[in-house]
Amino acid sequence: MAEQKNIITIDGPSGAGKSTISKLLAARLHYTYLDTGAMYRVVGLQVERAGLDLEAEGAREDLVQLLAGLDMTLAPGEEGKETRAFLNGEDVSDAIRTPEMAMVASRVSAQAEVRKKLTEMQRTIGKNGEIVAEGRDMGTIVFPDAMHKFFLDASPEERAQRRQKQLAENGQKVEFQEILAQIQKRDRADSGRSLAPLQPAEDAVIIDSSEMSIDEVVSFMLAAVNKKQQ
Ligand code: DC
Repeated sequence: MAEQKNIITIDGPSGAGKSTISKLLAARLHYTYLDTGAMYRVVGLQVERAGLDLEAEGAREDLVQLLAGLDMTLAPGEEGKETRAFLNGEDVSDAIRTPEMAMVASRVSAQAEVRKKLTEMQRTIGKNGEIVAEGRDMGTIVFPDAMHKFFLDASPEERAQRRQKQLAENGQKVEFQEILAQIQKRDRADSGRSLAPLQPAEDAVIIDSSEMSIDEVVSFMLAAVNKKQQ
């Protein structure tokens, strides 16, 4: 397949700033922003609500059935806010953003049936291009022919610090060590799974944002995109 010029992928671990940066980049380019983590979180919520034990016998059939009836929609978040998500028409935007749901999402994302279904949905959303797709496997699996691939990283300590600040701004006081442990646990789960593990695509530009501001990262990406498109 020919390179997909107007598809930009941004992969990386949790807390590296992907959402904020992807959203800003999409706005600058007038592209659609696709938050694929929100999709895994919605499926996680549905699995949780259905009381489905993924380890149980016959769970695969139940999961397939659940996915067949999946009624999920995403909508852009307001300025500075994350993507809004709806499950069966219900606004679940807040329900999917808890640390517990992050872990559930990580767990369901290791299931082949879930990945297949969401990969298909993501490709459908991206079929006309002009998209900034953010996640763990955007450049490796979902859009392997994307012309612009970035892998956004930052040290676990830096990511934990940013998360702690973000939580504090929302009035939540959480210990640094607790956040760091959660981040490291999810890193291990997302990188260690056999299906579509978190890893940079071979042709991805790797950016360590530990010492960079959001604006610096966005400018760097825009420059890289413009250079390639000339
Ligand atoms: O980006 P996030 O924290 O909202 O993602 C939640 C989980 O979903 C993450 O821990 C792993 C999974 N995920 C995935 O496996 N593939 C993606 N493309 C996006 C998210």
